Amino acid sequence: MRKKLTFLGIETSCDETAASIVQEKQDGTGKILSNVISSQVDNHNKFGGVVPELAARSHLENIEFIINKSLKVSKLKLSDIDGIAATAGPGLVVCLTVGLNIGKAIAGFLKKPFIAVNHLEGHALSPGLEKKLDFPFLLLLISGGHSQFLIVNDINDYRQLGTTIDDALGETFDKTSKMLGLSYPGGPVIEKLAKKGNGDKFKLPLPIINKAGCNLSFAGLKTAILREVEKNKIDNNFKNNLAASFQKTIIKILKKKTKVAIDEFKKISNNNFNHFVVAGGVAVNKDIRKNLKLIAEQSGLKILFPDPKICGDNAAMIAWAGINRYKKKLLNDLSVPPKSRWQLDERAPFMKGPGLKL
Ligand SMILES: Nc1ncnc2c1ncn2[C@@H]1O[C@H](COP(=O)(O)OP(=O)(O)OP(=O)(O)O)[C@@H](O)[C@H]1O
Ligand SMILES: [Mg+2]
Repeated sequence: MRKKLTFLGIETSCDETAASIVQEKQDGTGKILSNVISSQVDNHNKFGGVVPELAARSHLENIEFIINKSLKVSKLKLSDIDGIAATAGPGLVVCLTVGLNIGKAIAGFLKKPFIAVNHLEGHALSPGLEKKLDFPFLLLLISGGHSQFLIVNDINDYRQLGTTIDDALGETFDKTSKMLGLSYPGGPVIEKLAKKGNGDKFKLPLPIINKAGCNLSFAGLKTAILREVEKNKIDNNFKNNLAASFQKTIIKILKKKTKVAIDEFKKISNNNFNHFVVAGGVAVNKDIRKNLKLIAEQSGLKILFPDPKICGDNAAMIAWAGINRYKKKLLNDLSVPPKSRWQLDERAPFMKGPGLKL
């Protein structure tokens, strides 16, 4: 019997310093032996977003401790590790460099395989830790910096069906929260307030809802929220109702666009796929989960989400992507650079900026 692979994963692409040890299981899924995350949210909260230099400095201060802790929790030693995977992009280069360099140093010193992981592939494959994924599958990636529908043909083989033409969904939650004078990140607090509000109180726009296939747009929604904030007295009642109306609008958009993406993929694949994966930080939202589950069921698809613990940034998904890439012999040498932009589908057209015609 082949030895079960055990990988160290390292993640420093944004404001979380994370390390994790993951071991593959006989059934093709994975076991998280440790998942250590040090969040810098409090450092950045007062600025309403991430400050790159502050984030990089904090990664440098914490990374050694976090890696050692991940080993301690897993009860393994570095010599028990079969390979090292570190996020190489997309993200803030000053931050990526910290995790990438320490990953390379460990791999070089131990003479172990090194894998440079695309953070988005980490999110994409994360539900595979619990349930074996059937390729090809449809992916909706909704995170702080990305909002995309993709066909995942295999590890390292993606085709983009649609993307946001302006803001990402997580970013829209964050900006809405900031406009309401609430904390960063915005998703959790908006979800909490939405439960107490009336989702029909404010009529908000549904940008490009009936055009541009399964591409998404949230900028117009953000502007509409700003108008409501300027027009109204900002008390708790207002915040709850606006949060509820915002979340209800997001859900309408996601339901409609998911139907379009499913139809597109069904046509392309001759109805030959079973899994719909929803991943990224926004995928933790319970109301979004519930509504997308209904759409998947109506289309005869099985919907898969990552465990809420690994929806946001974490290194377990990086170690897991590393194991999957290693099995496909997708190794990197130690000269691999960090990349601030790195699309999963490198052929996909760039969809942002003025003059975009839909
Ligand atoms: N309960 C929630 N509801 C909605 N959004 C949420 C919730 N919890 C977290 N989020 C959002 O998830 C985002 C963070 O997700 P994630 O960590 O995957 O993004 P990122 O790593 O910053 O971006 P990317 O993965 O695109 O590089 C934030 O924008 C946050 O507001
Ligand atoms: Mg992320």
